[in-house]
Amino acid sequence: MPIDPPSSGSPGSPNRGEVRTVPTWSPTVARHNGFVHHVDDPDLGDVVVGQDQIRARIAELGAQIGADYADDPPLLVCVLKGAFIFLADLARAIHLPIEVDFMAVSSYGASTRSSGVVRIVKDLDIELAGRHVILVEDIVDSGLTLTYLRRNLAAREPASLEVCALFVRQGNQKTQEELRYVGFEIPPAFVLGYGLDVGERFRNLPYVCEYRGAG
Ligand code: IMP
Ligand code: MG
Repeated sequence: MPIDPPSSGSPGSPNRGEVRTVPTWSPTVARHNGFVHHVDDPDLGDVVVGQDQIRARIAELGAQIGADYADDPPLLVCVLKGAFIFLADLARAIHLPIEVDFMAVSSYGASTRSSGVVRIVKDLDIELAGRHVILVEDIVDSGLTLTYLRRNLAAREPASLEVCALFVRQGNQKTQEELRYVGFEIPPAFVLGYGLDVGERFRNLPYVCEYRGAG
């Protein structure tokens, strides 16, 4: 029996069954698909890590975590806001019954430099005592945020505490934090996309690129 092509819905009906796949992101593809995006923004520079590279690396990280924690499925602690997209993809790449929780910290304000002052804006809901915890971070720059968070979470007496950072900026660390899982080491430039922002903009770019604006 022939299968009808997916319908794009009719007025008044929910838009179900529509399949729209977007291949690797580029300004041309974005325009072709009718997305209104930041593609022509002069603040955006060269792509540093592409969408396919990110996807492939997260699959590897997920497999590694899956193997390392096979007997003790971890609790992933996502540091908002920057790590929200990474957490969503990483969680699905780990084939174990994990749990997730979220905390929000603020360290930069709207600037591109760390103030070194970390503020917990939202704390966790789940108790960490006795849990195997993986702190999921977007990017480690000076390392000051991570040092603060690690100390804060360690005080809650988890059974173990490791860090998974998608990006580490080379040569900027002011503290020596042990990072069990790292996605990519990236050059010194400030970057945007895949959760990373400047003044709350650009988080929804599906790749990571340099920031050319003032900051
Ligand atoms: P650190 O305390 O200097 O290590 O900075 C860590 C936090 O600053 C990260 O969790 C990000 O939220 C933010 N951050 C650091 N570098 C960048 C960047 O290149 N783009 C966007 N946000 C960044
Ligand atoms: Mg930020």
